[in-house]
Amino acid sequence: MSHAPSAVPVLTIDGPSGSGKGTISALVAERLGWRLLDSGALYRAVGYAAGMAGLDLSDVEAMTRCAHGTKIQFRPAMDAGETRVVVNGHDATDELRTETAGAAASAIASMPSVREALVALQLGFRKAPGLVADGRDMGTVIFPDAAYKVFLTASAAERAKRRYKQLKEKGLSVTLGGLQREIEARDSRDASRAVAPLKPAEDALLVDTTGMGIDEVVAKVLAVVQP
Ligand code: C5P
Repeated sequence: MSHAPSAVPVLTIDGPSGSGKGTISALVAERLGWRLLDSGALYRAVGYAAGMAGLDLSDVEAMTRCAHGTKIQFRPAMDAGETRVVVNGHDATDELRTETAGAAASAIASMPSVREALVALQLGFRKAPGLVADGRDMGTVIFPDAAYKVFLTASAAERAKRRYKQLKEKGLSVTLGGLQREIEARDSRDASRAVAPLKPAEDALLVDTTGMGIDEVVAKVLAVVQP
């Protein structure tokens, strides 16, 4: 049976980097049996494709063309629960995780025409039985009609610590102080930009995850959908 997209339930999970969005969204999607949209990966993929093509990240026209022309595929990985991101036929999962890729994504994400180029792709993820959408503007711009909205936060120090642990586990060389400065710079750019700034939707449940364990946050978010 096919459903009109507007009839498909959506849970939006927005918040700054390191707030736990990625981990929590994946676990909640798995528990609900819903699809997952990692919208940050789209911006990272476009930034990565632009870098590979040797384009100037500040050239709005080139970035817009790149956003329209980049082929992005999400593929389930051999390790259960992991998703690989394939950009123009190349598995770029590891490159996309770096803070350099995050900064490139944040730079191009401030361009309205780049954001516009990725709208249809994001709306296409809304398929039965439901969608968990992870990002910055999921509840405010892309799925304003979502029935369930959550905004995750955590103190800057805790967010930096989490990202540090995550990147270390992936074998990347980072320092905690450097990471905290990079994250703060990226968040302040994301929150202050003119289009789709990072901010909670008016109808979102705010959850401060500082000091909370993953299971506790998952339970709190699941309770929004299944009270
Ligand atoms: O969530 P993630 O850290 O992968 O996002 C990378 C960057 O992409 C963010 O810092 C933000 O600038 C941009 N982004 C966005 N809107 C989204 C998701 C990500 O602007 N919905």
